[in-house]
Amino acid sequence: MGNSSEAFAGGVAVITGAAAGIGEGLTRRASELGMKVVIADISAEGAETLAAELRGKGREAMAVRVDVSRPEELERLAEQVHASWGDVRLLVNNAGIETIGMSWEIPAARWEQTLNINIHGVVHGVRAFAPRMLASGKPACIANLASTGSFGIMPTQTAYIMTKHAIQSFTECLYLEMQMTGKPVQVSTIVPGMVKTRIFEASAGTGEPTGADRHRAVMRELMANYGMDLAAAAEVIFDKLATGAFWIDTQPDMTRDMIDGRIAFLTERAAPRLAPMARSLLGLDG
Ligand SMILES: NC(=O)c1ccc[n+]([C@@H]2O[C@H](COP(=O)([O-])OP(=O)(O)OC[C@H]3O[C@@H](n4cnc5c(N)ncnc54)[C@H](O)[C@@H]3O)[C@@H](O)[C@H]2O)c1
Repeated sequence: MGNSSEAFAGGVAVITGAAAGIGEGLTRRASELGMKVVIADISAEGAETLAAELRGKGREAMAVRVDVSRPEELERLAEQVHASWGDVRLLVNNAGIETIGMSWEIPAARWEQTLNINIHGVVHGVRAFAPRMLASGKPACIANLASTGSFGIMPTQTAYIMTKHAIQSFTECLYLEMQMTGKPVQVSTIVPGMVKTRIFEASAGTGEPTGADRHRAVMRELMANYGMDLAAAAEVIFDKLATGAFWIDTQPDMTRDMIDGRIAFLTERAAPRLAPMARSLLGLDG
């Protein structure tokens, strides 16, 4: 466990969207490393099931039902965690949803839900926890979930992609703001390539256009075939976080390909175009 155990053991980890997927993987890893884990998720049942399992192993785990799209719920979470367990060592703003469909066909409510969870959930998570981290003067870390999609484009995943571009730029600015304080608060961007989760399962929430089903099915298949195992991804993420790095990626080759493509696009100032693999995925090659 090496460096990640030294860096994090005994600390408090708050992870949003922690009842499933990457959040669950990170929660399990944090708990293995000896952290007290706060499992914050919109699914009270999912959060409590995981907390009970971890407590059954003699670990400390707290389940809190939180909807990250509501700033007041994140503020309440921060108050509750500090009152119960004191200073937070690690905050992972992880909760996020996929929304699929032509931009003009997605209902207004679904647009707002996507932006509120994926962007405002991260912003208000920082607003709730950063002041207390700074006031404590202790080492702390804020890690936000971006994506390799933060550097690329994908039609019909437009709502999701634009939120991930936003999180990357937000996190870069936040890093510099923390530097201006001179306090030991690390800021990192987590850039998963593709990790096996249920994010492309049929959408809960308010309606996506019917055409979304085909895209979701293709992405589910891709994820099943090429996605990284959750536990392996969580281990890589914690090992990199422990080094204090800003860039935390799970599949560096994918990150490099996406960033190289972005650099070429910006350098050439050509019209937006899709990589050949994405074209065939979307059925644009006839
Ligand atoms: N899986 C990937 O390959 C991948 C790649 C790049 C980025 N990401 C990012 O990782 C994060 C997690 O994705 P995942 O694949 O694990 O998704 P997932 O759908 O498997 O899990 C998401 C979790 O967030 C919770 N959640 C949803 N809305 C919430 C809300 N309003 N408040 C609190 N919790 C809420 C869900 O209940 C669920 O437990 C997302 O931000 C996603 O954009 C994932």
